[in-house]
Amino acid sequence: MAAAGDIIRTAGLGKTYRSGALEVQALRSVDFAASPGEFTVILGPSGSGKSTFLNILGGLDTATSGQVWFRGQELTRLSERGLTRYRRDYVGFVFQFYNLVPSLTALENVALVTEIARDPMRPEEALDLVGLAARRDHFPAQLSGGEQQRVAIARAIAKRPDLLFCDEPTGALDSATGIRVLEALTEVNSATGATTRRVPGTPCPPAFLGPGRGRGGTASASHGPADPAEGQENVNVFQQVA
Ligand SMILES: Nc1ncnc2c1ncn2[C@@H]1O[C@H](COP(=O)(O)OP(=O)(O)OP(=O)(O)O)[C@@H](O)[C@H]1O
Ligand SMILES: [Mg+2]
Repeated sequence: MAAAGDIIRTAGLGKTYRSGALEVQALRSVDFAASPGEFTVILGPSGSGKSTFLNILGGLDTATSGQVWFRGQELTRLSERGLTRYRRDYVGFVFQFYNLVPSLTALENVALVTEIARDPMRPEEALDLVGLAARRDHFPAQLSGGEQQRVAIARAIAKRPDLLFCDEPTGALDSATGIRVLEALTEVNSATGATTRRVPGTPCPPAFLGPGRGRGGTASASHGPADPAEGQENVNVFQQVA
């Protein structure tokens, strides 16, 4: 069972991809939990299952074994429709390659999401939170990689998600830009946490899950400040170990 207070929890989570005779065990019995407001960094090398893990937690993919709970509700029992509702109402997802619409401005890319959300912030407010108010009318091609990444973050936070998943938020960026993106994420973590507490029906601040490097297999969790979010309070580094 999910413990009271966890916003998300997994038990024995497994994912095996099969195509013909080929089998890839991407996740093997992962036990994980995060509290509301927690900033968690997932560490593991290429191919260790980080994206697979985030995709299942974000309701974009399904597990082959084990369970996932969101605030005590078992996601692994939900229908396709229930998962769609979970993604729409509670989840913000920042993809590795941003997935911005090239023919829409930064503001319009954010507005795409706020138009269907239950209690969104204004698109301008979301862009302001990531330091991009001055770039609102730029198209993705007119933005640097780090700026495009921040538009993607603004789009994910604009609907005030309870959970924000970021797959390799700094992977494609140089280190200085990567640090700026991480700073934007930590600022957004505290800013939207405070805001979310005021929203009826969503009393918990967001939990953040971000990726990193490490090794695949069964997972264990350790708590405390660690690179890349060194010194930040309430950071949980989740390292996958073989
Ligand atoms: N749709 C799929 N079909 C078959 N195998 C897959 C599929 N998606 C991922 N895999 C395999 O599952 C394993 C985990 O992949 P995943 O993308 O989760 O790794 P990752 O840790 O995110 O890697 P990276 O750091 O390179 O992004 C890999 O061995 C990959 O080849
Ligand atoms: Mg990945």
